[in-house]
Amino acid sequence: MARSVDWDELPAAVREAVERHTGPVAAATPGPEGMSTAVRLILDTAGGGVFIKGTRPQSSRLVREQLTLGAEVAPFVPSLSPPLLFRVQADGWDITGWAAVPGRAADLTPGSADIPKVIAVLAELGTLAAPDVPGLWSIAEIWGRDVDDPRMLDGGALVHTDPHGQNFIMDGDRTWLVDWGWAARGPAWVTAMRLALFLMEAGWEPADAEHALASVPAWAEAPPSVITAHAISSVPSWEQAVARQPDNERLRAWIGLVRAWADHRDQTAGGTPLLTHGRAEGTPHHREKRKG
Ligand SMILES: Nc1ncnc2c1ncn2[C@@H]1O[C@H](COP(=O)(O)OP(=O)(O)O)[C@@H](O)[C@H]1O
Ligand SMILES: [Mg+2]
Repeated sequence: MARSVDWDELPAAVREAVERHTGPVAAATPGPEGMSTAVRLILDTAGGGVFIKGTRPQSSRLVREQLTLGAEVAPFVPSLSPPLLFRVQADGWDITGWAAVPGRAADLTPGSADIPKVIAVLAELGTLAAPDVPGLWSIAEIWGRDVDDPRMLDGGALVHTDPHGQNFIMDGDRTWLVDWGWAARGPAWVTAMRLALFLMEAGWEPADAEHALASVPAWAEAPPSVITAHAISSVPSWEQAVARQPDNERLRAWIGLVRAWADHRDQTAGGTPLLTHGRAEGTPHHREKRKG
């Protein structure tokens, strides 16, 4: 987790570009922790709170692309994402501004009262078609190499591949889902499958996590053999990630649950062995390597 750059540390040209949209900034407080973006601040303005998220000149290309994709996709999910208010670029910085919403991260631990609300968000997301925006990844392209028939991973739904607790904001009766920079086009069950892993990370047994998702239609209707094939095929790629970052404790814990889930799928869901080959280094599973 990286701390955000402070408002005062931003170049004057960047602050001026933001204030052209927000009016004078009375105060700025660091937003909750995130992983990739250099700037995450809540600005106090006469018009209300504005959450800014952005990249700096040194930010990697991947992080810049995520910022762009997040800004492109959010307007297509107005019921799930806080509104994007503006995007400004100055001195190599790239800043998106969003209506700040109050609330806290979702608690994904077993028994949490947030679970039904999070599940409801997934059910809604499963009904949305992927928008036609340039940077959207295709799940079949990302994961298709590991199954006999990549067409099984085809789909036209909008997929959020990173639905962990901090990317939900529990705001009274509303539940927001933010951080669309990892969005993709694919089968709608993929978002549910990713959530199942985050539930397991929060302490759920694999069978219970899968059961909790039963009311998400896209998950209930998903072909079990394809999910099983994906569960098993993702293990080597995570093992490679751990080998590259042996000191990353969260990643080490993650590989444990990825293996446990693959074993569970293998034993209970069975399914046709669609798996063909191990995953080569550098295949698009690198999109999963960031945890945050
Ligand atoms: N519109 C918003 N209003 C208030 N807080 C937000 C808003 N959008 C995101 N956040 C908070 O900021 C955190 C980081 O934002 P996020 O978009 O997830 O960036 P990152 O890519 O750094 O994870 C989120 O986990 C959430 O808690
Ligand atoms: Mg995030």
